[in-house]
Amino acid sequence: MCGIVGYIGTQAATDILLAGLEKLEYRGYDSAGIATVWEGEVNCVRAKGKLHNLRSKLEQIETPAQIGIGHTRWATHGKPEEYNAHPHMDTAKRVAVVQNGIIENYRDLREELKGKGHKFVSETDTEVIPHLIAEFLKNLPPSSSSSPFLEAIRQAVNHLHGAFAIAVISADYPDELIVVRQQAPLVIGFGQGEFFCASDTPAIVAYTRAVLPLENGEIARLTPLGVEIYNFAGDRLKKQPRLLNFNPAMVEKQGFKHFMLKEIHEQPGVVRASLEAYFNPGESTESPINLGLPADLYTDLEQIQIVACGTSWHAALIGKYLLEQLAGISTQVHYASEYRYAPSPVTANTLIIGVTQSGETADTLAALTMEKERRQGKEAKYQARLLGITNRPESSLGHLVPHIISTLAGIEIGVAATKTFTAQLMAFYALALDLAARRQTVSKDILEKIINGLRQIPKEIEATLETQERLTEQLAHEFAETQDFIFVGRGINFPIALEGALKLKEISYIHAEGYPAGEMKHGPIALLDAKVPVVAIAIPGSVYEKVISNAQEAKARDSRLIGVTPVNDGEAAEIFNDLLPVSHVEELLSPILTVVPLQLLAYHIAARRGLDVDQPRNLAKSVTVE
Ligand code: F6R
Repeated sequence: MCGIVGYIGTQAATDILLAGLEKLEYRGYDSAGIATVWEGEVNCVRAKGKLHNLRSKLEQIETPAQIGIGHTRWATHGKPEEYNAHPHMDTAKRVAVVQNGIIENYRDLREELKGKGHKFVSETDTEVIPHLIAEFLKNLPPSSSSSPFLEAIRQAVNHLHGAFAIAVISADYPDELIVVRQQAPLVIGFGQGEFFCASDTPAIVAYTRAVLPLENGEIARLTPLGVEIYNFAGDRLKKQPRLLNFNPAMVEKQGFKHFMLKEIHEQPGVVRASLEAYFNPGESTESPINLGLPADLYTDLEQIQIVACGTSWHAALIGKYLLEQLAGISTQVHYASEYRYAPSPVTANTLIIGVTQSGETADTLAALTMEKERRQGKEAKYQARLLGITNRPESSLGHLVPHIISTLAGIEIGVAATKTFTAQLMAFYALALDLAARRQTVSKDILEKIINGLRQIPKEIEATLETQERLTEQLAHEFAETQDFIFVGRGINFPIALEGALKLKEISYIHAEGYPAGEMKHGPIALLDAKVPVVAIAIPGSVYEKVISNAQEAKARDSRLIGVTPVNDGEAAEIFNDLLPVSHVEELLSPILTVVPLQLLAYHIAARRGLDVDQPRNLAKSVTVE
């Protein structure tokens, strides 16, 4: 959730740290800070609020320091105030630490350290780390290690419980930047005589493409001479950086006002990339789809359990529809945060799928870890039936599960998920169709028809984007002050109603709920009046007439009706007050199109309200706490 960046080399560290934090601000943005070492002192500057507050403070302080660490915070322990912002220091202000994650045993450590004279000034869990390191440094026998700083940190992290990534510098060791990874991402960048670290690659790609993601339980010592990697036991490990394939344009707005709008417009390209990657037969004679998964993952499959959160959970609901209706496999979708405490009974022939665009969502990782542990000691087939769907295969999820479907959205900067959702849908279409082909639950003709339909989707999204930009902007003008919205859909478009409501509430702060249209009369209809607009997704197919009837019921209660309907739908035009038309496609494929006007509606309403669309309040891009 928080962003970490670190630098050691020959350039002015402050500029590099600030530039890195800017690229990480989407991870958390309630306070920020940096610490550098210069003339035997740690200089720590922190500011509450967005990064520009820190930047203004730093304008008045010039330091040529060539080593430093920086942090952008999403508060977990303690209010978003300057005194809780990272970096944190020990009592003597010799050691500075930034952390991403949670130190679960911080209360006990804090009490213990207080007993030894350490003074704490924040409410955070992180503050115990510099104190603990200082304590170990004080007690190290003289010349017990070639790097006392590294040794003290190694001892300290062995006392920490939780999931964390940290970066540490010290006034007494001005040529060492030490970083640690334990269940929270951390990557090292290799330059010429300079080295970087960050919780995510966008922070360092402007400087280097040679990167080494640390594994859990690893410590790295960065000096101007190079990088040494150790495990928590202190054994030296041999590792080589790899070259990152990264397009820097991905982390620029490219003329769009916000990242979210740019990312909505990138969706046709995401679908094209997914079609190209997944929809080719490879060596298989059984299926026209190639997800790179071993065939025995599918053998004798009886049921699927999916765990996910937020927008990924909505994608999973559509996945369930596809897996059940196309491949005939009973599928359940769980909130990852709930599943962990009430797991479903599973058999050796149950496939567990974790869906997370970031690959770092703590609840999803915890649910999958629980499943992995449940399977330990069981037969190999049972252990192997864990699959992740993620946009970041290098993430913690990538390390946790044996099989991954990589979604092909490219990096998403806007906190509200848009193109990663579409990419997840494409992964589910591919998975369900692959299973359907192998299990022969749909005929070759139907399979071909669906795949041909998917191939048309990119241009249909383009057409939808073209008409919807103006329409949604106009509607946003009228609804900018509305206080409540209801979204309804049925069948495969019910999750799109949920997603439309989530997009609106998270970026515009307008209360919005999504319901299956048929449920309205079982309670929620009591909410309706002229002040509560209803957005209905009405696509011809199995539930069209039903949705239209449900919309009529809302109209009879004076709600203004907005319809996401096919273009030139005469019946819909008579019923709905406003139309957000999408191209004609098969109902089965429609969610990839119907979500687009809802993303745009949410975007334009939030923009109209003058809100920070890319960094909505209280949210963060990857939720690395449970
Ligand atoms: C909504 C949104 C969140 C995430 C959720 C899960 O726009 O972005 O609801 O979908 O926090 O995140 P991932 O997919 O990274 O596990």
